[in-house]
Amino acid sequence: MSTTGERTTARTGAIGADPRRVDGPRKVAGAAPYAYEYQAADAAYLAPVQATVARGRVAAVDTAAAEAAPGVLAVLWHGNAPRLREDAELPGLQQPGELHVLQSPEVHYRGQPVAAVVAETFEAAQHAAALVTVTYEQLPHDADFSGDRTDLVAPEEDHRQGDVGAAEGEVVVDQTYTTPMQHNNPMEPHSTMARWDGQAITLHESTQGAHMVRETVAELLGLEQGRVRVVAPYVGGGFGSKGPLHAPTVLAVLGARAVPHRSVKLAATRRQMFSLVGYRSPTVQRVRLSADAQGRLTGIDVTATVQSARLGDFIEEAAGPAKSMYAAPNRRMGHRAARLDVPVPTWMRAPGECPGMFGPEVAMDELAAACGLDPVEVRVRNEPERDPATGKPFSTRNLIACLREGADRFGWHDRSPRPGTRREGDWLVGTGVAASFYPVVPPVSGSRALVRHTGDGHYVVSLGAADIGTGAWTALTQVAADVLEVPLDRVEVRLGDSALPLASLAGGSTGMMSWGSTVHAAATAFRARHGEDPPPGAEAAADLPEAAHRDDYAMHAYGAQFAEVRVNADTGEVRVPRLLGVFAAGRIVNPRTARSQFVGGMTMGLSMALHEESVLDPRFGHVVNADFAEYHIAASADVADIQAHWIDEHDPLVNPLGAKGIGEIGIVGTAAAVANAAYHATGVRVRRVPLRLDDFL
Ligand code: MOS
Repeated sequence: MSTTGERTTARTGAIGADPRRVDGPRKVAGAAPYAYEYQAADAAYLAPVQATVARGRVAAVDTAAAEAAPGVLAVLWHGNAPRLREDAELPGLQQPGELHVLQSPEVHYRGQPVAAVVAETFEAAQHAAALVTVTYEQLPHDADFSGDRTDLVAPEEDHRQGDVGAAEGEVVVDQTYTTPMQHNNPMEPHSTMARWDGQAITLHESTQGAHMVRETVAELLGLEQGRVRVVAPYVGGGFGSKGPLHAPTVLAVLGARAVPHRSVKLAATRRQMFSLVGYRSPTVQRVRLSADAQGRLTGIDVTATVQSARLGDFIEEAAGPAKSMYAAPNRRMGHRAARLDVPVPTWMRAPGECPGMFGPEVAMDELAAACGLDPVEVRVRNEPERDPATGKPFSTRNLIACLREGADRFGWHDRSPRPGTRREGDWLVGTGVAASFYPVVPPVSGSRALVRHTGDGHYVVSLGAADIGTGAWTALTQVAADVLEVPLDRVEVRLGDSALPLASLAGGSTGMMSWGSTVHAAATAFRARHGEDPPPGAEAAADLPEAAHRDDYAMHAYGAQFAEVRVNADTGEVRVPRLLGVFAAGRIVNPRTARSQFVGGMTMGLSMALHEESVLDPRFGHVVNADFAEYHIAASADVADIQAHWIDEHDPLVNPLGAKGIGEIGIVGTAAAVANAAYHATGVRVRRVPLRLDDFL
C-alpha cells in the first residue's frame, strides 16, 4: 500500500489494512439481531393472503372465519385497510403500483396481497390467513415472455453510432443468448417489525437504506419524515431487492396502523420471496458482431428483450454494458420490453450488467474461435482509446491489465486452442475467459457524516448507512481512523438508523464512494477545525463532496474472469473446479472484506451459470419452483477454488478516496467465463444459462 505524501489519505495506513469486521464479534455472539429478531413484548404477527389469479378483481372477501379464529387481532383487505396516499411522491426507484397494497380490488399479478391477518402468534396468523375466502372476477392474463412477441415496446431510443446495418465483416457472429428469470435470495428474507404509537411509526427493517424507507413510508402515510424512524443496523444480505420497498413492508405498516401499540412482525417466507419482492427479468439477447479477419470489430449490434410489468415498468438494461466495452465504428444497442401481468422486476446484483455481459462475452468467445484467435487476444485487439458510448476519456481503464495478469495467474497459456481435446478420465476439461464491467454509478442521494470527539482521542462517527454484510462498517472505521490518525479501536462508527445523518442507499456499488468519501470529508473537516488535540465534545460534519470530474470522464470498473470447467463425458455433469478473477476497481480500502465481495459475487455468478432459474408457468402466472428444493443456489460443494485478485488502481478522478465500488462487478462475466470454458471442454456451444447436463449429451 502506498503511503506517499502526495496522497490525501493513508496517513496511518488504516486504509489498505485488513482488519476483521468490527461487527463480527457481535454477529457470532448472536448480538446482532435482524429486523425480525428484535424481542418485543408487544409483538404481533402478520400473514399475507395472496391472489390465486394473475389478473382480475377481488369480488368479495369473507373474513368471518378468520376473525373468529383464536388470537386474531385484525383482518385487513381493500375494504377496511388503512388508506395510503394516492398522490404520494415516492422516490424514483419505487414502484407506486407495487406499493399501493390493499388499496383497491384490482389484481395485477398472481401472488399479489389481497388480504392480511394480524394475530398474537405467527401460527395463529398463518392459520387465520388460510380461513380468509377471496372470490375473484378473473380476467384473461398474459404472462408469456418471449423474444418473438409482436407487441414488444422500445423503452427508449436505441443507442446508435455509424451504421451497424451496413457494417460488413469477413467474420460475423450472429446469435441469440438467453438468461432466465432469477430471484434474489439473501440469507435473511425481507423482514419488517413496525410499531405505530398513535403519533409516529418505527420500523425495524431489512433494507439497503434506512432513509429511503423513511421517505417512502412517510409519503405513503402522509406523515412528516420526523414521525417515521427506520432502524437497520444489521442486514442479512441485500442484492438489490432491499433497495426499493416492496409489498411486505407496506403490509407491515398497514398492520401496525390497524393494530396500534403492537410491534407487527412480517418476515417473507422463502416461498413469498418468489412472488412479493421482485426478481431479475429474463433476457433474450440478439448479438451480432462483425469483424475483419484479424478479429477487429467493425460492428456491434445488441438487442436485449426483457420482461416488464403492466403494473409498473422496470427495464433490465442488458444492452447497456455493450455500449462501453469494445471499440467498433458501427454500433447499435437497444432494449425491447414485454409488459405482462406479472410482478414488477427489480434490481438484482448488477442489474443490466450481469445478464448483459453474458451474451456479448460469449459472442466474443465465438468471434475468437471464428478468427482462430486467443480469447484474451481478441479482447485486447478491441480495446477502445476512449469510452465508445460517450467519447469521453476514461478516468482509468485497466481491462487489459486484468486480462494479462489473470492469464498469468490462471495458467491460461497452457491451453490448447482447440476445444474438446483435453480429457482426464471421464471428464472433459476446458478453460474460458470473459470480461467484467461495472460503472461508477452516481449515488441516489447525498450523504452526511458527523465526527465527534468524545475525549481521550476517542471518536464517534455517525451516518445512517446500511451495512448489508459488505463490510462497509469496518471500511468506514478505517477511513475515519486514517484521517483522524488514531488506531481503529478509537473510532466507533454508528450506522443503520434514519435518526443518524442522511446516507445514500447501499446500491449500485456506491457505498465506499459515497459514504467513504463523506466520512473522509467529515474527518478532514474535523482535523481542519480542531487540529491534532481537540477538546472533548468537538464536532464536525460534512456532506458528500461534489463529484468534480464526473461529467468529463467515463468512469468504470473492469475485471477479467477465468474459469476451468469439467464436463462428465457420460453424464454431462458440469463442475467448476477453478475460478480466478482479477479486478481493477479503484482503491481497495480493506483487502479482507473486498476479497469477500469479489468472491461472493463470483460465487453468485457461478450459481447463475449452473443453477439459478425461476420457472414461471404462463398458464397461471406464478413461479413453480419457489423454494430451495427446486430453485438451486450454489452451495459449498459447488465452490472449489475461487480466487480474487486486483490491480492496485489509483484513480483520483472518481472521488477523494479513489474507490470505484466492488459490490457487484464480481458477478459480472462469471457465467460467460463458465460457458466459454464448457465450450472449450466439449466443443458444444451453449448460449443460455444455466448450463444443463443434457446440453452436453
Ligand atoms: Mo445493487 S442490485 O445496485 O442494490
